[in-house]
Amino acid sequence: MDYNQEVKRRRTFAIISHPDAGKTTLTEKLLLFGGAIHVAGAVKSNKIKKTATSDFMEIEKQRGISVATSVMGFDYKDIKINILDTPGHQDFAEDTFRTLTAVDSVIIVVDSAKGVESQTRKLMDVCRMRNTPVMVFINKLDRNGRDPFDLLDEIEVELKIKVRPLSWPISNGQTFQGVYNLFEKNLQLFTEVEKQTIGESIELHDINSKELEKYIDRYAEKLREDLEMIEGIYPDFQVDDYLQARVAPVFFGSALNNFGIRELLNCFIEIAPSPKSFTTIERVISPDEQKFSGFVFKIHANMDPNHRDRIAFVRIVSGKFERNTNYLHVRHGKQLKFSNPTSFMADKKSVIDEAYPGDIVGLHDTGNFKIGDTLTGGEKIHFKGIPSFSPELFRYVENADPMKYKQLAKGLDQLMDEGVAQLFINKSSGRKIIGTVGALQFEVIQYRLEHEYNASCRYEPIQLYKACWIQSTDKKELDDFKRRKYQYIAEDKHGRDVFLADSSYSLQMAQEKFPNIKFFFTSEF
Ligand code: G4P
Repeated sequence: MDYNQEVKRRRTFAIISHPDAGKTTLTEKLLLFGGAIHVAGAVKSNKIKKTATSDFMEIEKQRGISVATSVMGFDYKDIKINILDTPGHQDFAEDTFRTLTAVDSVIIVVDSAKGVESQTRKLMDVCRMRNTPVMVFINKLDRNGRDPFDLLDEIEVELKIKVRPLSWPISNGQTFQGVYNLFEKNLQLFTEVEKQTIGESIELHDINSKELEKYIDRYAEKLREDLEMIEGIYPDFQVDDYLQARVAPVFFGSALNNFGIRELLNCFIEIAPSPKSFTTIERVISPDEQKFSGFVFKIHANMDPNHRDRIAFVRIVSGKFERNTNYLHVRHGKQLKFSNPTSFMADKKSVIDEAYPGDIVGLHDTGNFKIGDTLTGGEKIHFKGIPSFSPELFRYVENADPMKYKQLAKGLDQLMDEGVAQLFINKSSGRKIIGTVGALQFEVIQYRLEHEYNASCRYEPIQLYKACWIQSTDKKELDDFKRRKYQYIAEDKHGRDVFLADSSYSLQMAQEKFPNIKFFFTSEF
């Protein structure tokens, strides 16, 4: 297979959902279809149960599981599928945001009884920001759920995207009959016997045929009415609208019962985008270019404290990646060679010799990488679009053991490179402030400092509302602002100015009084 065919056959995506909607179950069923696993239960849920928020072993377990299931690659009908896993717990939302920078499309799972939930809304905001094409899978049709038309309306309003159903449910819960596939024009019946296997679909191009009654009896008329209504309400599906992130195709099914998944997957491999171009500060990089380039979007520390190495996950953007070849680490300006690049598969990982755009490789890292780093065949480019988000929870961090100052500094530095949280230094007091998006991170940091770096820290409360990056072309106004607000000005890890607003009011006032200063809520501007 030549280089271009390798690129074109790849589909790299993430499945996102509010916890419990069925992301893990759907992932597992997709792997079963791909023959990547053979029994259900092989993919462990990576979620931390609510009761375990302060159970450190749970956190460690979670980290272990999520390394193993970080990327799941398999072949299905000549298509190479890469599913990128995202953490279920909302305190790790920033991890999910970053993973979304490395995918070409997304499948959103919605629970048919609950509809759109908070976490889905937030993740969709990120997809919208990046123009990522999305497909929706409405799950748990075997349970009593809401009216499908209502659900679609809710998705349009809440997720702010037009939808187009490509399959349609026939009743639900106890009386669930199956789905009609509008994309392939066939009927898939839901029967108890077929629950865990994949039933054959019934070709039925003419929905008005009396044959329909034979299969679904009294539900036939309702299906015809529904389909007519769909044709009336929704314009014909255009693949381009999906690829431009203007319309989300919607499928219905039951992941647990392996039902409706094949329709989703077949349509997905047909229409989902192959690896896209990425923007660097210097120029746009197309996957057709045969010179290697890629960026780090995630870093995972080894769970074994005796081996303090880490795995950096690199999304390949262009060119073929090869084992034992020198690549330029652009930020450090040095050449690095990798003898054991790994790919991941459910619970296994294996060493690979080559990888193509769209693939994710895991590189052993002894502290060279941080999130956002670029690796190339020699060109000095810098990928954009892997932002840090304004944290919302803050604490002062202090050294709790005067003998271990160095260990603490190193530990904090490396944890920040991994993207666990963000560190700011208050310019007037010199005190270090950690900002996170979830409360759990504070515990993770303290625990990991102790176990991996032999350092101990103590937190002290600080009343802050938000940290935002500030910039202005009007140097005088910026200096004036920094002078007046000196107590609230900090520096991030890269020495950029950050305003620590103590309330939404003070942020609003600052924005009004200093119109020439821009306040940024992600670190990329
Ligand atoms: P998540 O990764 O999005 O958090 O969800 P996950 O797949 O873990 O699913 C959450 C719960 O919903 C699980 O039940 C799972 O079995 C169930 N589920 C998933 N898909 C369907 C479906 O199509 N129909 C029905 N009825 N249930 C579904 P659990 O009891 O929380 O976990 P478990 O003990 O079954 O593993």
